[in-house]
Amino acid sequence: MCGIIGYVGSRNACEVIVRALERLEYRGYDSAGIAVVNEKLEVSKVVGRVEKLKSRKFEGTIGVGHTRWSTHGKPSIENAHPHVSCDGKIAVVHNGIIENYLELKEELKTHSFKSETDTEVIAHLIEENYSGNLKEAVLKAIKKLVGAYALCVVHESKPDEIIAVRSGSPLALGIGVGENFVASDVSAFIEHTKKTVYLNERELAVVKKNGVELFDSEGKKKQLAIVEVNWDLEQAQKSGFKHFMLKEIFEQPRTVEETSKIKINAELKADKIFITACGTASYAGLVGKYVIERLARVPTEWVLASEFRYSNPIVGRKDLLVVISQSGETADTLAALRLAKEKGARTLAIVNVVDSTIAREADDVVYTRAGLEIGVASTKAFTSQLVALYKIAEKMSGKKMDLSGIPKAIEKILAKDKEITEIARKYFKVYNFLFLGRDVNYPIALEGALKMKEISYIHAEGYAAGEMKHGPIALVTDEVPTVAIAVNDEVKTKIISNIQEIKARNGKIIAIATEGDTEIKKHANEVIYVPKTDALLTPLLTVIPLQLLAYHTAELRECDIDKPRNLAKSVTVE
Ligand code: AGP
Repeated sequence: MCGIIGYVGSRNACEVIVRALERLEYRGYDSAGIAVVNEKLEVSKVVGRVEKLKSRKFEGTIGVGHTRWSTHGKPSIENAHPHVSCDGKIAVVHNGIIENYLELKEELKTHSFKSETDTEVIAHLIEENYSGNLKEAVLKAIKKLVGAYALCVVHESKPDEIIAVRSGSPLALGIGVGENFVASDVSAFIEHTKKTVYLNERELAVVKKNGVELFDSEGKKKQLAIVEVNWDLEQAQKSGFKHFMLKEIFEQPRTVEETSKIKINAELKADKIFITACGTASYAGLVGKYVIERLARVPTEWVLASEFRYSNPIVGRKDLLVVISQSGETADTLAALRLAKEKGARTLAIVNVVDSTIAREADDVVYTRAGLEIGVASTKAFTSQLVALYKIAEKMSGKKMDLSGIPKAIEKILAKDKEITEIARKYFKVYNFLFLGRDVNYPIALEGALKMKEISYIHAEGYAAGEMKHGPIALVTDEVPTVAIAVNDEVKTKIISNIQEIKARNGKIIAIATEGDTEIKKHANEVIYVPKTDALLTPLLTVIPLQLLAYHTAELRECDIDKPRNLAKSVTVE
C-alpha cells in the first residue's frame, strides 16, 4: 500500500505535493519522491520519510509525488518512485502490484532499467506507446498490465495535464477552484477541497488546472460524479473507520487475495522444520505446524522464539527454521534466527516489512502483502502470514490449497459486524474469557484470547478444548463466557462434548460454527457462522469473528484500541 498524489494548479507544486505526501504517510513511508514539470521534468527521491523532500525547492505548478511501502525491491533511491522513461520525459507514480512485470521487462529489453521495481516497467511501456498523446499512450500501456494499479503520469511536453488511471487500487480526484488533485485517498487534499470524484475500476482521468475529463478504458467520455466528503483528515486516513485496527480487519479480503498471489521460491527441503515467532505471529506459526505436518508429513516443531533462543535447541544443517514476523525487527525472533544460523540450519523468514532486519538476515524470505499495518493489534498481517504458510505447505507437499474462495468468505463474515457488536454488548463487562479450539483452530483460540487481552484488557485464556477436564473447567461459572470454535471438521463432535460440559456448569457459550449447522444452536448461547471451507483453511475464517469480537468489546470499554496501554507495534527489545 503506497500513497500517490498529483497536483495541477497555480500554487508551487512542490510544496502542495510534499504536504499531501505527509498526509499519505500512514499508507507507507520507507522512501518518497516527487516529479515536477517546469519546462523540464525535475525529479527528486529520498529514502525514509517525506520530510526529507522539503529541501527540494522546484518551481512549477504541476507534478506528482509518491510515498512508498515496498513490496518489490528494498527501500532505496533507485526503487523509490517516481520512475521515469529512458528519455527522462515521462514520470510515473504507482500504488499496486504488477504481476507480469518481468515478462514486460523482457519485451522492453531495449530500454534501460534502473530499479528492481515492477513500477518502472510502466514508465517504459508508456514511452513505447507515446506519439504525442499522453492519454492514448497510457490507455495502450495499461492494456498490457496484469495486476493492481493506481497511476499518475506526467510528460515534460504536457505541462498542463496529469493522466490518472486505476484498476484494483484506489484513486480519488480533488476538485478545487483553479486547481485539481488526484490521490490514493482524500486525506491528501481534504484540507484544500472536500469535492471529490472516486474513480471506478479502469476509469482514466485527464486532470488539468481548470477541469477534469473522465474516460472509460476504451477512451469513451464519461460524466464526473462529484461528491462532497464530510470527513476530517484523521477520518480520511482511516477511510471513515473509527480505528486503524477496524480498517485493517476490513482490508483482509484484499490482503488475503494479494498475498495468495505470492510465489514461494525458497529452498524447503529439510529433515525437520522448526517454526518460531512471538505473539500473534507465533500463533500463525502454530497453524503452519499443523498444516505442514498434515500435508507434507515433515516433522515440524513449533516453539516460541523467546524460549527457542535459550533452550540450546537441537537444530542443525539438515533442518529448516521458519521465522515469522510482521515487523521483521522483533528481538526474540531475530535472536532465534541468528542462533539457528550459527547451528548451521537453513532459515526462511515470513515478513511483512520489506528489507527489515529479519528479512535481510534469513537465507530466504517470503514477503506477505498485508501493506502497512498501523494498529498495534495485528490482524491483516496475521491472515497474510497464514496464507504464506499454506502456500509453503502446498509447495512442500505438492497438494493444492485452493484459497480462491477465501476473500469472499471473509467478506461474508465482515458483513456480520453488527451482529458481533451485539454479542460484544452482552459480555463486555466480564472479567474473564475462555477461548477453546482443537487441531488447526487451537492456535486460533490462542490468537482470539490474545486479541481480547491486548485491546480490551479483559483477562482471556486460549486453551486446547481437550484440556478443559484437566483443570481449566474449574474456572467455569456463568460469569466466565467461553468462545468455542466448533466448525465442521474431524474434531467437531469432541468440541461439542466440551461445550456440553461447560453448559452443564452454567457457562455461557459463544460458538463459531459452519453455516448450515443448526444443531449447534442447542448448545450455544450465541452462534457466529462462517462459510463452509476446507477444514484446514478454516483458521483464515474463524479468526475474523474473534478479531471483531475483541474490537467491539474494547470499543464498548472505551479502550485506546490502536495504541493499547503498555504495548508497542514492534518489540525490538527482550
Ligand atoms: C499482536 O497483536 C501483538 N501486537 C504482538 O503479539 C505481535 O504479534 C508480536 O509482538 C510479534 O510481532 P512481529 O510479528 O512484528 O514479530
